[in-house]
Amino acid sequence: MRTPMLAANWKMNKTVAEATAFTTAFLPLVADVADAEIVLAPPFTALAAVAAACRGSDVAAAAQNVHWEPGGAFTGEVSLAMVRDAGASHVIVGHSERRHLFGEDDDAVNRKTRAVLAAGLTPIVCIGETLADREADETAAVLDRQIDGGLAGLAADDVESIVVAYEPVWAIGTGRTATPEQAQQAHAHVRRRLAALAGGAAADRCRLLYGGSVKPANAADLSAQPDVDGALVGGASLDPRSFAKIVDTCRKAV
Ligand code: 13P
Repeated sequence: MRTPMLAANWKMNKTVAEATAFTTAFLPLVADVADAEIVLAPPFTALAAVAAACRGSDVAAAAQNVHWEPGGAFTGEVSLAMVRDAGASHVIVGHSERRHLFGEDDDAVNRKTRAVLAAGLTPIVCIGETLADREADETAAVLDRQIDGGLAGLAADDVESIVVAYEPVWAIGTGRTATPEQAQQAHAHVRRRLAALAGGAAADRCRLLYGGSVKPANAADLSAQPDVDGALVGGASLDPRSFAKIVDTCRKAV
């Protein structure tokens, strides 16, 4: 049995005051949730404030990115020691915006994923095809390449403990959600590929989140799919009531 995870990716949104206000309003709404893991990923500047506000609750804080090097001359980058010091337990790795807007490739995703694991934190590794990939019938090949490249060298134990987020690029921020059938088909494919990489038991335990225009209205149908173990939510996670509604809907449907 996989514990569902609902993760909020705030992207480049919210000041420290706004992030703290969200967290203060959100925590009471999910105080009774014991059957799902909830993660908030604020921008770096608000990470310590959100982690501090979450202390004493079951809600975890995540960084949206990290650099794999432990320190040094890397202007603008943030290390794992820094995100851990800020109170994060999870790190989003390889988000499609990082890949497509900032040139992150599978090799960088792999270095980051391995560094996050070595630091004892949980990576949420994002994969997903573009619309052009899908229209060219390349979805499976793209996912395979991202899985094989991004997760190269991981032991079965590692694969079991990471979280993989399937986020079709054409569904991110577009209001165009994958149908539950499309999500299930992609997730089942990802799980088969993980099984080939790390064995069936590890693949079975690995949580696979769906991301891309998840809203309170579509969260139940997506989460009800057998290989969908929760959601990585962008826009609809910016409002505490909306994200709490998604948490509630998903954990009941999974
Ligand atoms: P939206 O929910 O805004 O489509 O964003 C999804 C996403 O990219 C989460 O990481």
